[in-house]
Amino acid sequence: MNPVEIIRKKRDGLVLTAEELDSFISGFLGGDIPDYQAAAFLMAAYLKGLDDNETAALTDLMLRSGKRLDLAEMESPVIDKHSTGGVGDKVSIVLAPMVAALEVVVPMISGRALGHTGGTLDKLESIPGFRTNLSFIDFRNALWEAGLAMIGQTDDIAPADRRLYALRDVTATVESIPLITASIMSKKLAEGLDGLVLDVKTGKGAFMKDRESAEALAMSLVETGRRYGVRTIAVITSMDEPIGRTVGNSLEVRECINFLKGRADDDLLELVLTLGSYMLFIAEECVNLEGKRSVDMEVEPSEARLEEKRINLEGVINSGKALEKFVELLETQGGNPEIVANPGLLPVAGNILPIEAPRKGYITGLDAEKIGVAAMLLGAGRLKKDDPVDPAVGITLNRKTGEDVDAGDPVAVLHYNDERNLSEAKELVREAFSIGDAPPEPKEMIIKIIT
Ligand code: URA
Repeated sequence: MNPVEIIRKKRDGLVLTAEELDSFISGFLGGDIPDYQAAAFLMAAYLKGLDDNETAALTDLMLRSGKRLDLAEMESPVIDKHSTGGVGDKVSIVLAPMVAALEVVVPMISGRALGHTGGTLDKLESIPGFRTNLSFIDFRNALWEAGLAMIGQTDDIAPADRRLYALRDVTATVESIPLITASIMSKKLAEGLDGLVLDVKTGKGAFMKDRESAEALAMSLVETGRRYGVRTIAVITSMDEPIGRTVGNSLEVRECINFLKGRADDDLLELVLTLGSYMLFIAEECVNLEGKRSVDMEVEPSEARLEEKRINLEGVINSGKALEKFVELLETQGGNPEIVANPGLLPVAGNILPIEAPRKGYITGLDAEKIGVAAMLLGAGRLKKDDPVDPAVGITLNRKTGEDVDAGDPVAVLHYNDERNLSEAKELVREAFSIGDAPPEPKEMIIKIIT
């Protein structure tokens, strides 16, 4: 089929058949369709949308573009978590070892920075030696050995998402419910999961700015999981301000190490415990009958059960078991485990620049998108597809919403190596902080659960 006709049809708002989508995706992966035609297709899909059948067909094609793990022989339940993209979102890096320390297998395929949001892969790759590009066999072996592995899309697993994700990052085609659904679910369904928990972000720093669109995305993701027999729960969470105190790859890994040592910021802890409690709930519902695991697709958790799971999760932080699992993850994937005792081994930027509060008062807002864009401009993300990411740069947040400041206090610190975009980044960080005379009403972090 002629790719130009397929792009034109979508450009004109017509519905594509599964055969047309198949022809386009296989042409792209096979090298017959170049990046510029794929980018045009993505923009047409972004602008005109894909209906439910097109979304389902695209997800299935992207899933079938690579291999799927079969973890049926494992005794333990296989559960994962994925976020729709946040600023300072380091949840996966701490939650995966915590849940794995509780005998749940976590085969996590993540992505790189996308738009102004950070990517788990870029964060992990800031750890000296850490390999995210394991082969299919090495990924499987790591799961058998450590019960946990964290990798990226490869030529073997979810290759269509690997290529399309990189294009969407730099063509302003991220904020699309069908494209996000196909991207996330094609990776996650390749993992051979029993259950999946999704952190669907909404607010200033999210791709879904309002609750209605976040809810529609959550429904689309949960419904896709259900169709493939994977118990999927979506937690809609606020992404108005960055999560935790750091934004940028190695800075966030440092914060994760502190978290696993028991030094956690409240917002990060709340997110981790909420998402983790749903993961553990699904794991407990997983029954193993004659070597075949399954989960009831309708079962709902009680408050008491979720509370019990939160206590279990806190337990593995306090006992040091989650940190031990993190060290095991580093050892299995080539990362230097010495960073845990000595975080100074992580990359450090050559320069810092404090941003001072212009007046005394309370922080009434901290715009996550502005902070995310500033970190990207400093080099924590990409402006072009093949741009290298600087693992050391980013922003530390000395103040967050509700906290008080005196005029001249440093509210944030920029960590940078390259001065090219420094003044723009500095201006964005200044603008990101709103300061008023009184502290604002506290806002809920957890907005809604879609089961
Ligand atoms: N995360 C993904 O994996 N894909 C998206 O499109 C957005 C967030």
